[in-house]
Order: sequence, then structure tokens, then C-alpha cells
Amino acid sequence: MKPLAGKTAIVTGASRGLGRAIALALGEAGANLSLAARSKPDLEETARLAAVSGVRTLILPTDVSRYAQFETLVERTIESLGRLDVLVNNAGIAKVLPFAEATPSDWREVLDVNLGGIMNGCRAAAPHLIAQRAGKIVNVASVLATVALPGYALYSAAKGGVIALTRSLGVEWARHNIQVNAMAPGWFVTDMNAAAFGDDRIRDRLLRDVPARRTGRLDEIGPLAVYLASSASDFMTGQTIFLDGGLSVA
Ligand SMILES: NC(=O)c1ccc[n+]([C@@H]2O[C@H](COP(=O)([O-])OP(=O)(O)OC[C@H]3O[C@@H](n4cnc5c(N)ncnc54)[C@H](OP(=O)(O)O)[C@@H]3O)[C@@H](O)[C@H]2O)c1
Repeated sequence: MKPLAGKTAIVTGASRGLGRAIALALGEAGANLSLAARSKPDLEETARLAAVSGVRTLILPTDVSRYAQFETLVERTIESLGRLDVLVNNAGIAKVLPFAEATPSDWREVLDVNLGGIMNGCRAAAPHLIAQRAGKIVNVASVLATVALPGYALYSAAKGGVIALTRSLGVEWARHNIQVNAMAPGWFVTDMNAAAFGDDRIRDRLLRDVPARRTGRLDEIGPLAVYLASSASDFMTGQTIFLDGGLSVA
């Protein structure tokens, strides 16, 4: 029996990178998938890759920073796939720049997507999950919420907020049987950081602090997402699990 058979999961940022890997893992575990991001062609490619699992997929182009769009995403998912059990808030952006050069508009952009997107998702899903007295929310934070790196202040602030929001909702919604947890990845090479990892000097500098001395493989994120989305984690809530080759504890 697949652990997520009969369940429906929304995955944001499912068009590439970690979000695609998470979506494919949830599909392999039996969940029907509602795939969200802004780029429709890339979502179609994720749906094509998920087809081997034989699950139903829905593609819903969505900007997670817009609350009305997230509400529509939740409504259409329930209309088309019949239910909503799991919400993976993975969509995110990085703006790497010296804090002294950051503008209020840079701040708003990073906060609106990385933290506001999660607020929008949790709020839009709340009435449905509370009414059915069951739900799993998996937020994607970052090791940079707790480990500082020059240039990442806006991103780190947003991701720190993700961990705090996860903890708060975990406590507030425990009475509704909704588990809210977060994953905090370390370095995984994706479009978000490919340029930095393409430069040997920067790569060596970043990996120097990682006890495992390597980046994560995309297939290493899915199993944790499946665990947090499945009944195996029913007694865990408000937690953030670091998947970072030891970076956060070194
Ligand atoms: N890669 C790492 O080393 C690393 C480490 C720690 C945490 N993370 C986190 O992991 C998550 C995924 O990152 P990634 O590395 O896979 O980066 P990525 O390859 O750049 O993917 C980012 C995803 O987010 C989507 N997205 C961005 N803005 C959006 C918006 N406003 N509305 C909807 N979707 C949006 C993108 O799709 P569209 O552009 O099509 O909208 C894309 O699917 C992010 O939250 C990131 O902060 C990554």
C-alpha cells in the first residue's frame, strides 16, 4: 500500500528544482497532485514526469504571493481532484545582494513570496483542513534561517519567519488534527544557485562549511516530504527538520 494513496497534495514551486522533486516523490507515494507555479510549460513537464506513477495531476499556474490566486488554487484542486490533504509550500526566490543596497521593494518581494506565499497557502487551505479535521502542511524553510551568509539577509529573515510560522501554526492547529512542519534544506544545486555553484571558488567556499562536503541530491528531498505528508508523522508538529549535510550543527 502506498503511504499517500487516495490523498491529494498541492505542491507550490512544482515547476522545477526541489518542488518538482517533492511533487514526483509524493506522486510515487500515491498522491494525486495539484501543481502550482507561474510557468505553465514547466508545470506540464512535471506532470508528464509524474504520469509514470499513474496518479491524477492538475496544473494550475499561480503566483503564491497573491492571496486571491492561492484561494482559487485551493478551490480548483478540491473541485477537480475531490479533496485536499497535503499542502507543500515550497515556492521561493532568492535575492542575493549587500543589505546596504537593498531597497524596500527588494524586501517586499522576498518577504511576499517566501513568507507571504506560505501565509496565503495556510490561510486559504485552513477552512477545508479544519472542517475535515485532518491535514498536513509542509513548509520549505532553509538552513539560512539559522546560518548567516553575507548577501542573504532578506532571504534569511523570510526563512526565519517560515520556521516561526510553522511552530505557531503547529501549536494552534494541533486541536484540529492538522500537522504543520517544515523542511530546512542545505545546499541543493538548482536554478536558484546554479551560477554560484558553477564557480569553483564560490562552490569550495560554500562547501567548506558543510561537514558532508557535498551538495544534496534532488532525490534526497522527496523521502522527507513523503514522511511529513503521511500518517507516519502524525505525532510530529511545529518542527523544522534540517536536511543539510550537517551545516546547521557544524
Ligand atoms: N536550492 C537550495 O539550495 C535551497 C536551499 C534551501 C532552501 N531552498 C528553498 O527551496 C525552495 C525551492 O527552491 P529551488 O532551489 O528548487 O529553486 P528554483 O529551482 O528556483 O525553484 C523555485 C520554484 O518556485 C517557483 N516560484 C517562484 N516564485 C513564485 C511565485 N511568486 N509564485 C509561484 N511560484 C513561484 C518557481 O516557479 P516559477 O518561476 O515558474 O513561478 C520554481 O518552481 C525555495 O523555497 C527555496 O528557498 C532551496
